[in-house]
Amino acid sequence: MRIDILTLFPDMCEAVLGDSIIGRARVAGAVEIHCHNIRDYTTDKHGRVDDAPYGGGMGMIMGVQPIYDCYKTLFSEQGKKPHVIYMSPKGKTFNQKKAIELSNREHIVLLCGHYEGIDQRVLDEIVDEEISIGDYVLTGGEMAAVVVTDAVCRMLPGVLSDEVCFTEESHFSGLLEYPQYTRPAEWMGKKVPDVLLSGHHKNIEKWRREQALLTTLEKRPEMLDSASLSAADKKFLESIEYSE
Ligand code: ADE
Repeated sequence: MRIDILTLFPDMCEAVLGDSIIGRARVAGAVEIHCHNIRDYTTDKHGRVDDAPYGGGMGMIMGVQPIYDCYKTLFSEQGKKPHVIYMSPKGKTFNQKKAIELSNREHIVLLCGHYEGIDQRVLDEIVDEEISIGDYVLTGGEMAAVVVTDAVCRMLPGVLSDEVCFTEESHFSGLLEYPQYTRPAEWMGKKVPDVLLSGHHKNIEKWRREQALLTTLEKRPEMLDSASLSAADKKFLESIEYSE
């Protein structure tokens, strides 16, 4: 998979995406990520990429030309239109389902706005969808692009060491993850649950499933409405609800 980030601050994205698991995945060739500086594409002799809004108002608006030329260069290099996403608080809220969906695409472009936004005409021309990472406003789309890139990349084969890493974790199965423990078996008088020390795999599996159900019921009960639950899961939840 290839991800191109179009931004005025490529170093911000590189700083995060060049490190840790995603950094190593890039070196290993599991994913290709390129951060492009939109300013490199401006034809303005002073290097400007923004201008005052028509109709007046505060701040500056990123203009059409450098963004479109950056996009066109990518398009012609690749020979195929990439799926273009504009990072924006006006977009649909990002979630795990969207991360999985995007990880199945060959090539995505994440366009980051700054200042007061981007001229609507270039958005209308090149953008396929808008994504927000939550109901708050950031100073620019870079941090949102990094969040989306991270969540998408870790779904790609070869990025995490073991598939179990994500099939059991929060949100993948529609439930929040069960609690985890490591050594020591007792710390400050708090013991690791006995079942985890028992070596009895069936009991451990059952305990973990029930803990995932309990955690979800406590922290995000609305997620249970759309999770796929077995008859045993439902029975367990009923027993909890009745005992409260
Ligand atoms: N740009 C500014 N705020 C944002 C948000 N919440 N999500 C995505 N991009 C943004």
